[in-house]
Amino acid sequence: MEAQSSPPSISSAASSVNSSTPSTPSTTSSFDFSDHVTEQTDRRYILVTGGLGFIGSHTSLELLKAGYDVIIVDDLSNSYRSVLNSIIQLADIYYAGREHEQPKVHHHQVNYRDMEAMDSLLREYSIGGQFGRPARSKIMGVIHFAAFKAVAESISRPLDYYRNNINGLVDFLYLLDDHKIKNFVFSSSATVYGTIADLGVPVREEDCVHEPEHYLDDNQRGTLVSQGCTGLTNPYGRTKFFGEAILSDLAKSDPLWSIAALRYFNPVGCDASGLLGEEPKGVPSNLLPAVTKVLIGDSPSLSVFGDDWPTPDGTAMRDFIHVTDLAQAHIRALDVVSKQAMVKNFRTFNIGTGHGYSVQEVINTMEQVSQRSIPHHFMGRRAGDVGTCVARADRSNAELGWRTKLTLRDACVDICRFLRARNYY
Ligand code: UD1
Repeated sequence: MEAQSSPPSISSAASSVNSSTPSTPSTTSSFDFSDHVTEQTDRRYILVTGGLGFIGSHTSLELLKAGYDVIIVDDLSNSYRSVLNSIIQLADIYYAGREHEQPKVHHHQVNYRDMEAMDSLLREYSIGGQFGRPARSKIMGVIHFAAFKAVAESISRPLDYYRNNINGLVDFLYLLDDHKIKNFVFSSSATVYGTIADLGVPVREEDCVHEPEHYLDDNQRGTLVSQGCTGLTNPYGRTKFFGEAILSDLAKSDPLWSIAALRYFNPVGCDASGLLGEEPKGVPSNLLPAVTKVLIGDSPSLSVFGDDWPTPDGTAMRDFIHVTDLAQAHIRALDVVSKQAMVKNFRTFNIGTGHGYSVQEVINTMEQVSQRSIPHHFMGRRAGDVGTCVARADRSNAELGWRTKLTLRDACVDICRFLRARNYY
């Protein structure tokens, strides 16, 4: 699939965007902060690292629709600048004719691990700090997506994963702490459940905890779970587990931190407009991008990893969640985090539908929706995979006031719309 799409016109949004594109992304000197340095109002900025990636871009759009001003930090290592144009175009469409002032979006082409650049950026959003007054930030919260996420790659390059996902996270937290930005939403993953998910029963948050936890099971019996997780299958999963553990420790040490870790199941689909979609760079490792490649003729046949899993049709079973539902979960999480309205100041949430579909069912659904056949062949199981991974989403439903609205079929319809808009099929 041709990943770079032609940018839509952004003329109508020109006043609301500030895309910093320094020639050397890791330096701060050429940033253009002209827009916000002069701004006096106390805006509700949300800092989104990795905000032009698949989940990040859909979340940035939903944040804008929800009225937040958005600062996107994305070094474009796995995304395209044209994604920003799509976000702006969709925000323009959403706000056309509405009375509400259109929020701003700023993009900074910076690696979130570049502490010098990030420090400068955060300083630009500070207020006060002179004449003995403590500085405070206009940034009311952070959603942290920027991370490596390919399971197979994490097995062959574990140190890259630990350096980027763990060292990067710790340095970033230091910086946010310095700037007194302590509302944090972390992109975690269902992968933290490892082989526990494989027991074939939907997993609940208490299946992986960082502090001993009492809970009532389905029979209303009090149960005590110990911290830890024993079934992690790959370094990527360990980075998410360790990341959560670090955040849990941080929250315990300082009650001013308010942190939600969202454990994503399998995000699929794209914005219903067909203007924003999933465009990973390089060879896709996730299922739907691989299906898409076959659908548009870029790849002759889909490799299905494993036909001998203990599932009804032998192919692996996952909880596929529409990315727009997932993006909206972030808005809800941000709300409870910023109001410090969680049961504890570090809280994990499963973000899934509660319903599993097999890889074969995904292929069948996409074939029905696209009216095309998707040639596929069976291979051995992929290293680091589990057979089944499905969420119990009761906690997110109850405590975030969030639930999924869209289906796997909706996701396939939206993907086809996105592909058609680009004349891919
Ligand atoms: C895993 C994590 C998920 C994480 C994601 C990040 C688990 C249980 N889930 O997703 O939380 O967000 O990594 O990338 O660890 N498949 C094929 N052919 C393909 C591609 C995939 O058959 O070409 C199969 C896989 O073997 C798997 C299923 O499709 O059984 C889903 O794969 P994928 O989309 O890569 O997601 P997970 O590995 O489930």
